Amino acid sequence: MNRRILLIIGGGIAAYKALELIRLLKRRGIAVTPVLTQAGAQFVTEMSVAALAGEKVHGDLFSITDETQMGHIELSRAADLVVVAPATADLMAKAAAGLASDLASTLLLATDKPVLMAPAMNVRMWEHAATRRNLAQLRADGVRFTGPESGEMACGEFGPGRMAEPETIAAEIETLLDAPGALPEGPLSGRKVVITAGPTHEPIDPVRYIANRSSGRQGYALAGAARDMGARVVLVSGPVSLPVPPGIEVIPVERAEEMLAAVKEEMPCDLAIFAAAVADWRVKEAAAGKLKKQAGPPRLELAPNPDILATIGKMKRHRPALVIGFAAETEDLLAQARRKLAAKGADMIVANDVSPESGVFGGAHNQVHLVTAQGVEDWPRMDKAQVARRLMERLARMLADAQ
Ligand code: CTP
Repeated sequence: MNRRILLIIGGGIAAYKALELIRLLKRRGIAVTPVLTQAGAQFVTEMSVAALAGEKVHGDLFSITDETQMGHIELSRAADLVVVAPATADLMAKAAAGLASDLASTLLLATDKPVLMAPAMNVRMWEHAATRRNLAQLRADGVRFTGPESGEMACGEFGPGRMAEPETIAAEIETLLDAPGALPEGPLSGRKVVITAGPTHEPIDPVRYIANRSSGRQGYALAGAARDMGARVVLVSGPVSLPVPPGIEVIPVERAEEMLAAVKEEMPCDLAIFAAAVADWRVKEAAAGKLKKQAGPPRLELAPNPDILATIGKMKRHRPALVIGFAAETEDLLAQARRKLAAKGADMIVANDVSPESGVFGGAHNQVHLVTAQGVEDWPRMDKAQVARRLMERLARMLADAQ
């Protein structure tokens, strides 16, 4: 099978990673038709792109030779998938607005193929209300996203905005190419599942934060299991050091308030699972500048964070058909889980013992108890992937029964 993508390389520092992406794709037998925007050409040369892709590089909307050989409409449809990497704030804005002001935006408007974007930009630009709006619009238009990841950025700032690694993008491309409907058939086909995972980071100042030991593994495993069962999965993830799983849309967040906003934006959905270890408190007013040692130990005033599970569990309109929470406890496990089931309006609480001797928190195994209004079911110790599969099978049945 000949697999081909159209790769639009936008103008950002991350453009150099597009070269590595081309190399990885070629190695996987995926042909690449490259489009280099004018801004992109400021970061990588046409020559390197052409040499790696082994193809002509397209760059100009008004090229007579290109139009006589293959018009831009045809170019936009000759590939199986359109990939934008790096997807800059500018390219996202153009695509969201439906502009056709250069070759890249024209191709995005003219294509009838699925589109995958790998955003890369400064963290402030990523968090700007305009980019959030464009992102929501593009998602609603069916565009898929991989990344951005959190970390140190070329501009010296820290946070979400770094382009996903080429390996991650290549794996995502392969998943999309191999499953044109994009998702396997299974008991969750046609269902949308939203999952929170990982810790939250609550800033004290620009360099310090309050966090916890959650690894995100259980939430990521659940996301993988739901995807394998055919669901469309959106994973709202706090900062973790886990690879972005292919075939899953990951929305990276840092603070609890951001996590809540991202979850709300994904409503309605069929099934919402809250596996994140959300910080219960945030620093009321994080310092704008780095706190200095000479000033002495700071007095941190804390404010309560919103409870994401409870907010969604008690929603009047657009409440998911099933709302599932986790309860990580060191004592009174089942009593606490029952209390949380009622207090947060959940349909099930997956309770687990996280006392230090259990080794569960941050580890590879888990031992859970399913607490519902009907009673408690104890499961044996299993690895987190097994827990995830069995739990998703159970939830798929509950979902089928609920409707
Ligand atoms: N949760 C949430 N938002 C919060 C706190 C918790 O969505 N601000 C969710 C967790 O994802 C989990 C469930 O609520 O699914 C229970 O979390 P847990 O930390 O055990 O409960 P808390 O309400 O924080 O209670 P406590 O820390 O006192 O045990």
